[in-house]
Amino acid sequence: MRIDPGYSELHRLSDGTEVRLRLLRASDRGKFAAGFRRLSPESRYRRFFSLMPELSERMLRQLTLTDDWDHLAIIAERVAGDDATSLGVARYVRLRYTPDTAEASVAVIDEMQRKGLGRLLVTTLVEAARERGIHRFRASILAENEAGKLLLHSLEEHATARIEDGHANPARLLQLIAQLRPRPEGVRRRDQSQRRCCARHADDCLVEPERSGVGACPVRIDR
Ligand SMILES: CC(C)(COP(=O)(O)OP(=O)(O)OC[C@H]1O[C@@H](n2cnc3c(N)ncnc32)[C@H](O)[C@@H]1OP(=O)(O)O)[C@@H](O)C(=O)NCCC(=O)NCCS
Repeated sequence: MRIDPGYSELHRLSDGTEVRLRLLRASDRGKFAAGFRRLSPESRYRRFFSLMPELSERMLRQLTLTDDWDHLAIIAERVAGDDATSLGVARYVRLRYTPDTAEASVAVIDEMQRKGLGRLLVTTLVEAARERGIHRFRASILAENEAGKLLLHSLEEHATARIEDGHANPARLLQLIAQLRPRPEGVRRRDQSQRRCCARHADDCLVEPERSGVGACPVRIDR
């Protein structure tokens, strides 16, 4: 399946809720911000490793300005009604110096957790990444985040995963490494007409995660 700008897929969660998965666009700012407001403080901390009482304008821009190649995000939205809230987002940011590896992250709003959405988002993210020549996901995760670790292990048909506990640090961050299974159809070539957000809006892009030190935490890129 091609996960490109035209991609849109409907799924039914375990509680019957119908959701649509598609690529996140810059025009999803409002929806993304509404979803962020519906994350509990605990979920925010697990995703961003800080209390994050609010999302600054700049972070909102960084998190919604994807280029669908080096920085890609999948958004889930409710199909029925007019709920303008993102139910969950999974994203990867490719590492500059090891471009077959990307830093991955995911968050699902609390009221929609444990219904299969996190797994759905991450398996779709894996597919999009493999199409773009990414063979490995890296993710930082708090040692006590059992849901995050279980989510990783539930991906076994798509990836072999391991957890590295090499870095004792105050935040007790673990490194999850997932080796993605090869894609039988091979890797797509990058469409040259594809937008490159980083070239045009350097201030708005995510930093190389390997230099930020805290995984997919959004900070400024230096290019
Ligand atoms: C981690 C997170 C994305 C999981 O999303 P979710 O929609 O609840 O996950 P799913 O319902 O798809 O469950 C995936 C697996 O994890 C298990 N799981 C999820 N939450 C769990 C919990 N709180 N306790 C035990 N198991 C849990 C499920 O049973 C499932 O396993 P299975 O496929 O073997 O049945 C969600 O808890 C979240 O957004 N947390 C805050 C942000 C975060 O921690 N992100 C990860 C680090 S970037």
